[in-house]
Amino acid sequence: MTENRVGDPPDALLRAEAINKNFGAVVALQDVSLQIPRGEITGLVGDNGAGKSTLIKIISGVLTPDSGVIEFERKAANFTSPAEAREQGIETVYQDLALAGNLAVWANVYLGRELTVGPKILHILDKRAMLSKTGEMLERFIRNVPPIAEPVELLSGGQRQVVAIARAGAWGSKLILMDEPTAALGVAETKAVEDVIFGLKRQGLTILVISHNLDQIFRLTDGVWVMRRGRVIGYRQTARTHPDEIVSMITGAAASAGAGA
Ligand SMILES: Nc1ncnc2c1ncn2[C@@H]1O[C@H](COP(=O)(O)OP(=O)(O)OP(=O)(O)O)[C@@H](O)[C@H]1O
Ligand SMILES: [Mg+2]
Repeated sequence: MTENRVGDPPDALLRAEAINKNFGAVVALQDVSLQIPRGEITGLVGDNGAGKSTLIKIISGVLTPDSGVIEFERKAANFTSPAEAREQGIETVYQDLALAGNLAVWANVYLGRELTVGPKILHILDKRAMLSKTGEMLERFIRNVPPIAEPVELLSGGQRQVVAIARAGAWGSKLILMDEPTAALGVAETKAVEDVIFGLKRQGLTILVISHNLDQIFRLTDGVWVMRRGRVIGYRQTARTHPDEIVSMITGAAASAGAGA
């Protein structure tokens, strides 16, 4: 839709431009512009209330901005529902994930996309096909695939998150948004989830991940955007920055020192 502009990364999958969002008197996002490079893992960090979740919800169609533009693959993409975003290949994984606990892993993966045998009108589920294809699908991203015939509620929190992320990566997704994907997990489970995230990247997907854990941001990401109080402070390539710099961007220490405040 727009031409390449000076300062854009060469291959941005998604661009947000001059996004504003208020909740009553609360200014959640103020003139937020950023780009998400294609094929990379990008971090989004900032203190509580900085506006990170609000931005992800706008990208994924859960919220609509008061003003500003989202461009996805160079086309205007102000989605008005999560379903619309999903159709275009944008999937979101939340901390409180949306898996149905009583259903088996394979049934969760195929939820809303069930395979059937025989005449469509009878809606006879092709369980065998879904079972075997779920295995193949998850193996693309996961080394230790959890038991796919078991109900999700029998899996550990980490295994569930792994399934949720792998499901998000299936079905032709292009961009995966993750809001604190490991906030509730222990060390080993966090590692398993990070492995899946790398698996998504290896398959060519683009990832935006919110995390309060800077060690994780430095392990996972190629670049990181910092937000503070509803504004974008800046972007850094992970290999060319240091946690101290990111912390000072998050807290505003650098800015206030510079301003003599
Ligand atoms: N639905 C809402 N109604 C009113 N205010 C909201 C709503 N959602 C977010 N806010 C406010 O907007 C601001 C940004 O919130 P947001 O949830 O985006 O922050 P965040 O960076 O995700 O923070 P955290 O790290 O704590 O998750 C905060 O002041 C928050 O209180
Ligand atoms: Mg949040």
